[in-house]
Amino acid sequence: AAMGGSLLPVFAVVLSAWLVVGDPEEAAHVDGAPPSKIAVVGAGIGGSATAHFLRQHFGPEVQVDVFEKGEVGGRLATVTVNHNDYESGGAIIHALNLHMQEFVKQLGLKYRRSMAGKMAVFNGEEVILEETDWYLLDLFRLWWRYGISFIRLQMWVEEIMEKFMRIYKYQAHGYAFSSVEQLLDSLGGSGFINMTQRPLSDSLLELGVSQRFIDEVIAPVMRVNYGQNVSIPAFVGAVSLAGAQNNLWAVEGGNKLVCSGLLKMANANLLQAQVNSISSVHSGEALQYQLSFTTPTGKGSELYDIVVLATPLQTDGGSGIQFQGFPLPFDQLPSDYHKTVATIVHGYLNTSFFGFPDPRLFPYASILTTETPDLFFNSVASVCPVNISAGFRRKQPQEAGVYKVFSPQPLDKSHLKTLFRSYYSVQVTEWQSYPRYCSSQGLPSVELHPNLYYLNGIEWAASAMEMSSVAAKNIALLAYHRWNRQTDMVDQKDLMHRIKTEL
Ligand SMILES: Cc1cc2nc3c(=O)[nH]c(=O)nc-3n(C[C@H](O)[C@H](O)[C@H](O)COP(=O)(O)OP(=O)(O)OC[C@H]3O[C@@H](n4cnc5c(N)ncnc54)[C@H](O)[C@@H]3O)c2cc1C
Ligand SMILES: *[C@@H]1O[C@H](CO)[C@@H](O)[C@H](O)[C@H]1NC(C)=O
Ligand SMILES: *[C@@H]1O[C@H](CO)[C@@H](O)[C@H](O)[C@H]1NC(C)=O
Ligand SMILES: *[C@@H]1O[C@H](CO)[C@@H](O)[C@H](O)[C@H]1NC(C)=O
Ligand SMILES: *[C@@H]1O[C@H](CO)[C@@H](O)[C@H](O)[C@H]1NC(C)=O
Repeated sequence: AAMGGSLLPVFAVVLSAWLVVGDPEEAAHVDGAPPSKIAVVGAGIGGSATAHFLRQHFGPEVQVDVFEKGEVGGRLATVTVNHNDYESGGAIIHALNLHMQEFVKQLGLKYRRSMAGKMAVFNGEEVILEETDWYLLDLFRLWWRYGISFIRLQMWVEEIMEKFMRIYKYQAHGYAFSSVEQLLDSLGGSGFINMTQRPLSDSLLELGVSQRFIDEVIAPVMRVNYGQNVSIPAFVGAVSLAGAQNNLWAVEGGNKLVCSGLLKMANANLLQAQVNSISSVHSGEALQYQLSFTTPTGKGSELYDIVVLATPLQTDGGSGIQFQGFPLPFDQLPSDYHKTVATIVHGYLNTSFFGFPDPRLFPYASILTTETPDLFFNSVASVCPVNISAGFRRKQPQEAGVYKVFSPQPLDKSHLKTLFRSYYSVQVTEWQSYPRYCSSQGLPSVELHPNLYYLNGIEWAASAMEMSSVAAKNIALLAYHRWNRQTDMVDQKDLMHRIKTEL
């Protein structure tokens, strides 16, 4: 929680009423039958949520097959240290992430509040900014150091979040969008689209945020959340800043429990298989897709009426799926993903490295870093297990504890020896984590071909669990409306006004 308190929970109370999910509408194809088989590729939060929403909209009859080549959860995953599990991928959820909230509620899972702990910013030589126990004192300090920047920034982020939250209302009324641009435009007009195309630093400077604030506060937050700098687009930058507020939570037992829970609730068939190719198959009027896949025991193929790709399609380390018999609406596949290495270390932090020779005097639970040449890590934080028992307390810095280090490259022995006095275990996860953002990047299509949808294009606006969940709901609605030729439910303009008059 770098930025202290927020007014946002007030909206949460008002808005959660919008998230009432109606009975599954009946899937009646205008020309005849409802779809009989739908495939979802990927069982991360995006694919699992898609399966759940497809079931909701298409009803109990349709067969929903979910293909997963690795583990259910995808980028939501845990590693085990000393009989406890720790999040190694997507970890924190914002209080206003209403789809995630609703999943947890429906699945009977529990919230795990983030444990209090002080945060500091390190510039490679010393700690330059620290959080204190007292929120008001923080505010005064930030005010002193950065002038009006902090308040302006807070208001900017809140205004964006408030607009973004219109999506829950539109989706509860059944409206869908055929592209990420249409979706963003309906929420925040051309301003939102513009925010996906210009650097965060430009937007903030225009707001009057000082360069010093950008260097000392914003850049460290971008480094910990997206492993990148303030040249990333303003939209993902705002999402990242919202993720630095203090009203955050996670799922007791691990965030990935949401994925397995949703698949079960959707009564989806989970196939442990890697999809290798998707070909279009025409039989008379009907268009279907043939998926060829490899399972641990052999090869197979199946025909589907609707297919949702819920995995990144980038060229390097992506899904590896070949498309046959139809053109894709991309000149080239979306560009590469950024590599982020999560290293979970059980050991003694070298507090001397941060200027505290006596570990007992080291007051921080997490350290962010400024953009500093030669600094080999983005952040290091003492982490809590996914199951917190009643008596849990954070380890003191003089005790052995569990730490998570994010870095752009794997840490070598000398790096580990610099950050830790000594350690018992080291576990490394190399993620193709999120897009390598660039402000001239366009947003990939949602509809790749009739009845073939792509979820992860939304990550080029911003990558987060809730973004994949919003995209999942949108694709389930879009697939339903397209199948039933309900054009008046797709890409409608002036939705705020329409919804008011519908009520
Ligand atoms: C280190 C890290 C930290 C993060 N922190 C946060 C955070 O704090 N908060 C937050 O909201 N978000 C965070 N994120 C982002 C968040 O984790 C992702 O946006 C989200 O999990 C993406 O979910 P997804 O289902 O869209 O994709 P994925 O989780 O990537 O799911 C895609 C699935 O498809 C499978 N697959 C791929 N190809 C095939 C194939 N050919 N056949 C079959 N299966 C296939 C993959 O195995 C994978 O399981 C973080 C991400 C990382 C890496
Ligand atoms: C975004 O808006 C700003 C002004 O608010 C403008 O200067 C800039 O050119 C716009 N960028 C794009 C890509 O439209
Ligand atoms: C951010 O990183 C990109 C790519 O590594 C680089 O081109 C750009 O100059 C950097 N911007 C800043 C402000 O450091
Ligand atoms: C952790 O929490 C989950 C969800 O509440 C629960 O199912 C699981 O049994 C717990 N595990 C342990 C080891 O307590
Ligand atoms: C800890 O940090 C100090 C200061 O940077 C460094 O001199 C030392 O080598 C590091 N490692 C250990 C194991 O103390």
